[in-house]
Amino acid sequence: MASEYGQDSLLSYNEYLKVPDLLKLQRPLSDPVSHDELLFIIIHQTYELWFKQILHELDATIKWLDEGRMFRANHALRGVVSIERILVTQIHILESMAPIGFLEFRDKLNPASGFQSMQFRELEFASGAKDEKILATFKQDEFAYERLTRRFNEPSLADSFWALVARGGFSVETDEDRVAATVEILSHPEKHAELYNMQDLLIEHDEQIISWRYNHILMVERMLGMKRGTGGSDGVGYLMTTLSKKFFPEIWEARTHLKI
Ligand code: HEM
Repeated sequence: MASEYGQDSLLSYNEYLKVPDLLKLQRPLSDPVSHDELLFIIIHQTYELWFKQILHELDATIKWLDEGRMFRANHALRGVVSIERILVTQIHILESMAPIGFLEFRDKLNPASGFQSMQFRELEFASGAKDEKILATFKQDEFAYERLTRRFNEPSLADSFWALVARGGFSVETDEDRVAATVEILSHPEKHAELYNMQDLLIEHDEQIISWRYNHILMVERMLGMKRGTGGSDGVGYLMTTLSKKFFPEIWEARTHLKI
């Protein structure tokens, strides 16, 4: 009998990529189906797939940093940043949706929200921004809570970077030590070429996520104005408070102290 993957015993594109399965995963809740709900679902699913790939690369970066394999660590982190550049611009696709079209199906989403994106929180935790309050919000979701607890307890990208800096002969005990080490690295790029290149990629990773947050906020305000979020927050007001989150605050602060 012919299956949805075809009869041929040779591997096909559809079979390898499980395209028929993939195409079954977009299930609008509105009835009659609101035109823009398909875009809304596809864009979120696309983000989740890219988050999966980012986590794969972040895990590899941490492992290779710990092993002192700088070429591989650089390469993996470069991959993360390339994906993030796409994630920043991708949010604008949603702005093609008319605010009135979004309101047609928005109530159906309640109380689900991007706030509950497990993989986005994994990305934050794996990068170094761990937050017990956010972890606690996942307690009712066993699958997510287990993954996030593991990430919460594991060394992060920030931990691996500062351990690498310590192996380079710098003191990294306090925030001030870390700022001073980064000032030295920034002051003598050729002497500390590997650490210089790594801090440059790390600040880029931070910058891309902050840019994503900013673009997401503008898109949300364009759609909703100052309405409350489906997740229960006060919406744009809450999101603005997240703009100050940084994975590598010491690397940013070092710029303030740099002199020639
Ligand atoms: C029309 C589209 C969207 C609207 C109106 C929207 C709105 C919101 C609002 C109001 C919040 C605050 C939490 C709440 O009360 O719900 C939020 C958080 C969030 N949204 Fe969206 N969002 C949209 C699309 C997206 C997309 C495509 C993603 C991609 C994954 C996303 C990811 C997130 C994340 C990760 C948070 C948590 C941010 C944080 O707490 O730091 N959102 N969103």
